Amino acid sequence: MCCNSKMAATQLVCVDDFEKYACDNLDKHTLEYYRSGANEEQTLADNRSAFKRYRLRPRFLHRDVTNRDMSTTIQGQPIDFPICISPSGLHKLVHPDGELATARAAASMKTCMALSTGSTYSMEDVANAAPHGLRWFQLYISPDREMTKHLVRRAERSGYKGLLLTIDTPLSVRRLSDTKNKFVMPKHIRLGNFMVNEDTKDYDFNASASNLFDAALSWKDVRWLKQFSSLPLIVKGVLTAEDAIEAVNCGVDGVFVSNHGGRRLDCVPASIDVLAEVVRAVAGRCEVYLDSGVRTGTDVLKALALGARAVFIGRPALYGLAYDGEAGVRQVLEILKSELSLAMALSGCACLDDIKRELVVHESHYL
Ligand code: FNR
Repeated sequence: MCCNSKMAATQLVCVDDFEKYACDNLDKHTLEYYRSGANEEQTLADNRSAFKRYRLRPRFLHRDVTNRDMSTTIQGQPIDFPICISPSGLHKLVHPDGELATARAAASMKTCMALSTGSTYSMEDVANAAPHGLRWFQLYISPDREMTKHLVRRAERSGYKGLLLTIDTPLSVRRLSDTKNKFVMPKHIRLGNFMVNEDTKDYDFNASASNLFDAALSWKDVRWLKQFSSLPLIVKGVLTAEDAIEAVNCGVDGVFVSNHGGRRLDCVPASIDVLAEVVRAVAGRCEVYLDSGVRTGTDVLKALALGARAVFIGRPALYGLAYDGEAGVRQVLEILKSELSLAMALSGCACLDDIKRELVVHESHYL
């Protein structure tokens, strides 16, 4: 962490300003770990440019838009607005309060935070930091199924309201910049969920967490997890109609369209480009969420119009955390919330149900 030239909060008026702040202030290795994508970063770039290829078709004078209601539910749990926080590891790299700060910010804004398996505080500590906040726990099914079961039971016990199973990572991935930088977790940082702890008798990181990904994972394991846990199960990383149907057939409660922010397989499409296909395939049988590249209120509006129940943000929350801990994450969420509210008013929507499919078209429509 290196926040030597803190700009006045009023100078940061959009998510891109927070990214710029991070670029100017974080050390190179941390910045590149957060910011980079896989290989040539084609998908990373496309996540942004694809959003810009959709256009909005506002309707005027149909509704009173004096007040906008953005509240909704995800998996039956209320949130004040449909912008939540994606799971990402190692929050302590940029702020000593790490995931505790992120969780407090999400709770104070009455939205959901998904906690990564690779968090730097344990899931119990994060739950205690914001006991009334809505949290999901992000899970990888490990070859060590006992460890997986143990993580799931701990998430259930500590009040997490959803399991977010990430399916796009059969193997660990190294990004070019991380390889060049020889990026390793700094010594003062530990993975909170794997620390040996007097109370929980938890697994040791070296014994287990280095062995997180199972390249032999199959949809059978998704069915197993659905049976094993009473928590709603949401599958993250779906990029095709075929996999969305597989997921629904396994009885999942949510399908999460994501390309991991361009950090896994390069050259896959932007998530906004596959959203309509997935929504069609799911056909209302469970909720659909999206992340990867969401940076503005109009991005959120486009995703909602294309059928997402809610969107999630990854890096923007990390940039907010780097800027000012809990307050910085809150500021990022507030900006996106007010941008969405304004975009709704300007396009004739007073509540989320008013955001219809016809509100958005691909730019090719106008060519
Ligand atoms: C991630 N992401 C991620 N996803 C996941 O399922 N488990 C994880 O532990 C992590 N870790 C992680 C670390 C960092 C530094 C980043 C940037 C991302 C992916 C994350 O959940 C999300 O899909 C993307 O970040 C969304 O894209 P944007 O919003 O960052 O463009």
